[in-house]
Amino acid sequence: MKRVLVTGGAGFIGSCFARRLRREHPEVEIVVLDLLTYAGNLNNLRVFDADPRFRFVKGDIADPVAVKDAMEGCDVVLNFAAETHVDRSLLSAGHFFDTDVKGVFVLLEEARRTGVERFIQISTDEVYGQILEGEFSENDPLNPRNPYSAAKCGGDRLAYSFWASYGTPVIVTRASNNYGPYHYPEKVIPLFITNAIDNEPLPLYGDGRNVRDWLHVEDHAAALLFLLENGVPGETYNIGGGNEVENIDLTRKILRLLDKPETLIRKVTDRPGHDRRYALSTAKIRALGWGPAYGFEEGLSETVRWYQENEWWWRPIKQGDLQYKAWYEKNYADRLKGATSPS
Ligand code: NAD
Ligand code: TYD
Repeated sequence: MKRVLVTGGAGFIGSCFARRLRREHPEVEIVVLDLLTYAGNLNNLRVFDADPRFRFVKGDIADPVAVKDAMEGCDVVLNFAAETHVDRSLLSAGHFFDTDVKGVFVLLEEARRTGVERFIQISTDEVYGQILEGEFSENDPLNPRNPYSAAKCGGDRLAYSFWASYGTPVIVTRASNNYGPYHYPEKVIPLFITNAIDNEPLPLYGDGRNVRDWLHVEDHAAALLFLLENGVPGETYNIGGGNEVENIDLTRKILRLLDKPETLIRKVTDRPGHDRRYALSTAKIRALGWGPAYGFEEGLSETVRWYQENEWWWRPIKQGDLQYKAWYEKNYADRLKGATSPS
């Protein structure tokens, strides 16, 4: 591993991976290719400011010219770049297919042409769809149920097809919901923490009983580094935290950690097609020797503390960014009108 391309490296998980890669492999050259959409943030990459072995390329993974430039000389590629928010995909899905499918295709074509040694496609547990009991294994059928997960499913299988058709050394990973520092405050954990800090309502969808399996972002990054060394091309690996929590319990935990009242909770109109529960079997990656280091209680309280101590990072997004305000208004204004606090 000499030069690693991290696409989407200005986002939540990609930047965590890049920072960890630098800590564990000081000698490696790191190239980040990122379009800096609303979710991309150069503040996530500040540690690289004076790093001579780091290069940032602003560009679109669906643009072959930008991809050719960024991938030059790279032996390893990890594709984190994506449109990632289910709620946004429900209101407008076009960008999701441009990036999460076509962008993956452009990256794979260039990886095939240059002959990279590893290509990791970061997929998601959402490609399986919901599961009411039990857990999904890697060979289970895929049944995405919203435009985001359908687009990710396209990228996931496209990546596999390059292995099957051309022998491109692709590994596909499907992680569960991540949480941790530098998480854009549209997703539930950073949204609820930052709203609660400001005594703003927490809009809980539906009955609040939907279940997600929470994975600390550092555990995800560690698993990806582990798979670069131990994963087998052509294989798919689930990466889960083993922390299934109902949204209502998650919300209460956040409020307790911040010493805020439950009257901040608002039960609001549900997300259409809201997947009830995700759960993964992680037997395959565990058999290779990886397991998560974070317990959920510890990870969540550290995360809450990070948002308390790093207002410099999230306040400009929530208060200065008109795109964020427009999104909040669009998704929540009607929902919050007349919403009630659960008794
Ligand atoms: P994020 O939304 O925080 O970051 C996405 C990054 O991709 C941003 O920096 C954005 O600017 C960049 N980007 C978007 N479109 C681009 C394009 N066309 N070209 C180049 N860059 C582009 O997302 P995240 O939470 O860090 O997720 C990273 C990856 O992990 C995604 O592929 C996502 O599907 C996957 N994933 C996320 C989770 C989760 O819980 N967040 C769980 C499983 C898998
Ligand atoms: P989210 O963070 O958007 O991740 P995903 O949809 O990819 O799982 O949502 C996590 C859970 O929280 C999901 O069940 C939807 C719920 N949720 C709310 O109840 N209110 C909100 O405002 C948001 C954004 C999510």
